[in-house]
Amino acid sequence: MKQISCGSLRASNVGETVDLLGWVHTIRDHKDTFFIDLRDWEGITQIVTHKSKLKDETIELLTNVLRETVLKVTGEVKKRPPGTENKKLLTGEIEVEIKDVEILNECAVLPYHFKDYKNTAIQIRLKYRYVDLRNPIMLNNIITRGKVTNEVHRYMEEQGFIDIETPMLTKSTPEGARDYLVPSRVHQGKFYALPQSPQLFKQMLMCSGIEKYYQIARCFRDEDLRPERQPEFTQIDIEMAFIEQEDIINVVEGLLKRVFEKIKGIKVKTPFPRMNYKEAMTRFGTDKPDTRFGMELHDITDVIPKDTEIFQTIFDNNGIINAIKVDRYAKISNKKFAKLRRYVRQDFKAKDLAQIALKEKGTKSALKKYLDEKTIEKIIKAVGAKKGDNIFIIGDADKSIVYQALGELRLRIAEELEIIPKDEFNFLWIVDFPLFEWDYDEQRWTAMHHPFTSPKAEFIDSFDEDPESALANAYDIVLNGYELGGGSIRIHNPEVQERMFKTLNIPPEIAKINFEFLIEALKYGAPPHGGLAIGLDRLIMLLVETDNIRDVIAFPKTRNAKLPIGDAPSRVTTQQLDDLGIQIKPEVLQLLEEEKEEKED
Ligand code: AMO
Repeated sequence: MKQISCGSLRASNVGETVDLLGWVHTIRDHKDTFFIDLRDWEGITQIVTHKSKLKDETIELLTNVLRETVLKVTGEVKKRPPGTENKKLLTGEIEVEIKDVEILNECAVLPYHFKDYKNTAIQIRLKYRYVDLRNPIMLNNIITRGKVTNEVHRYMEEQGFIDIETPMLTKSTPEGARDYLVPSRVHQGKFYALPQSPQLFKQMLMCSGIEKYYQIARCFRDEDLRPERQPEFTQIDIEMAFIEQEDIINVVEGLLKRVFEKIKGIKVKTPFPRMNYKEAMTRFGTDKPDTRFGMELHDITDVIPKDTEIFQTIFDNNGIINAIKVDRYAKISNKKFAKLRRYVRQDFKAKDLAQIALKEKGTKSALKKYLDEKTIEKIIKAVGAKKGDNIFIIGDADKSIVYQALGELRLRIAEELEIIPKDEFNFLWIVDFPLFEWDYDEQRWTAMHHPFTSPKAEFIDSFDEDPESALANAYDIVLNGYELGGGSIRIHNPEVQERMFKTLNIPPEIAKINFEFLIEALKYGAPPHGGLAIGLDRLIMLLVETDNIRDVIAFPKTRNAKLPIGDAPSRVTTQQLDDLGIQIKPEVLQLLEEEKEEKED
């Protein structure tokens, strides 16, 4: 007798007697017949059982069987009667007529059934994740992830890369996100940090003579979570020696092309288009533009008279005024406009949002109080609007607020209007990033990528004197509005690295404490090198077409960084804390006690 997977039987198997093992997906008790959909990770097979042919105890067993019970069914493969085939199932032409059935394990009444996943709180789904993952959609996501990592290993090996692990318990360094810390028992009062990425170690591997490194690396960042962010995530991390930007781009394009072809059957065209950072910001308001649709930003700063009172602070501070045009959107209600206005003000700090709605009978706009007819006409012309369209305008002394608020509004409206093509994959390289960005809160220059990023050759001599103009040898790979990966050519000259720390206002003694190992390593013959890291979780999200990173991680964290299975983070015993030389602050202890009491109530 053949043991067969639930996804594999076809018409050609008719007449065979087979054993099938799996979960009861559904069971329907018709008058004379039971229909069971039996499921395993490859698919579903319909089992049919004619009550007249069954023993009494089998009828009783099937009458009481609950969904998700594990069964072993022995039966004969039959062609389904004409008209009852199921085209949605690969096994839809056949059914298996039961001869014998055995319960391998019963399933208690489920606390949550994966069929209700859309209406179930994520905490419950994640608490019973083993049930949640039985959902064929979720299972497919996780299996796809495994297939992708297999393909990545194959491709990287073919390209001559070597897979090397780097430490998980490392030193805490400033810059970037907040670290996850691990207390040391042996060195009480001292802490390891979990790596935010293997960045420094991969650079040191270059100094060791490893010319092509890669790793599917776990990374940890204690930052605010979003639908495309997890505190614990995975990178396909790459570094190469004796190379230039083009070499990294070629390897990454080859890798993504291969993964999309093998996993999705889609041939993506290489080379991918490139756009410089400035163009991305001015056209889309973001350095990760979704180029599957238009609705681009227009700079209308010069169209508006410089003495317009409401825009005075903007003009005085060298700010900008930008607009987007939305086709056939003039009819939106006041309530709808108020909602959009609230969105850009609350979420993106815009001071205000203005509209010019091109109605059938003239234009509707609160700006008419401040701008004459001619200026309104000029704006309409500048954005190319016609009757029925709507124009949204944001101005600010701080350019980044205009870009972010209008860029996000563009996405929100496009999603609402469902104008984003779903089956397109628009890869795009963003290049020529600024080397630095100004931190208003700290009043200092910070590294746009990280402090080891090399300036472009033409800025090597001047970047510390004129940080604002300096461009970096950095590149991001973007797909459909997601930052899929980022990387750079690194500084390999210790003198340049020192000047970089100085520009970032990191005093030599602090640089020494935090990065001594790298600064030292650069002194002893570091080769020119560079690399990139792709966010594996985001890549899988795009491959399986979900917009939540949790859907592609077997055991993800909730939005407040909890792991519901096992309920982590959790308290530990006083003994464990003593071993580490750690005491919880009394006020924190009090809060924990209150929380405990609340739970017990
Ligand atoms: P970067 O910080 O840009 O670069 O990270 C690279 C890619 O990792 C993914 N990513 C994340 N995915 C999920 N959750 C998160 N919290 C998260 N943070 C980042 C993104 C991102 O593009 N060491 C450098 C790479 C290099 O220069 O080689 C680095 O980590 O897809």
